[in-house]
Amino acid sequence: MEEDIAKVLISREELSRRVAELGAEITHDYEGKSVLALGILKGSVLFMADLIREIKLPLAYDFMALSSYGASTQSSGVVRILKDLDRSVEDVHILIIEDIVDTGLTLKYLKENLTARNPLSVKVVTLLDKATRRQVDVFPDYNGFTIPDEFVVGYGLDFNEGYRNLPYVGVLKQETYEVN
Ligand code: IMP
Ligand code: MG
Repeated sequence: MEEDIAKVLISREELSRRVAELGAEITHDYEGKSVLALGILKGSVLFMADLIREIKLPLAYDFMALSSYGASTQSSGVVRILKDLDRSVEDVHILIIEDIVDTGLTLKYLKENLTARNPLSVKVVTLLDKATRRQVDVFPDYNGFTIPDEFVVGYGLDFNEGYRNLPYVGVLKQETYEVN
């Protein structure tokens, strides 16, 4: 597994430091409120588990699953809800937790879909932002790291469901995912 990694982009220590900062910022911004942390399966799971323990607020969590890439590394632009929320979100402050915002297509769809359910607010925290790849006008409210346009895996992010359990974010060697 590690032999497929070209380089470590964000180390375990950097992840942990930045996640603590994000948690403190969110705690501060939502003072006096409670939040619904909404993890987007499956990539956000490791980030979410660490982040919510740094958020010192009343908090519930739930998950949604959306289709984005399937087995490839290219966005299809088609978003489908594979698993929806368990409850109504009226009168709830929703904090979407994403692993990475790439084209922004997934997030744009999701924000519109959730806003239509009349929550008190919808904000987004993403671990990674590939800002140069954005195709639609959508921005995370909190961002861990802005990264270059390289395919990354680890700390929840996958290629073909693999590499999610790496404790760091690494760049996958091109020969691992290029089909000739
Ligand atoms: P978007 O709709 O193009 O913004 O796609 C976002 C989703 O694509 C993320 O939630 C990831 O599942 C996936 N994705 C985008 N870039 C990467 C990457 O570099 N590594 C792993 N997954 C990625
Ligand atoms: Mg994925």
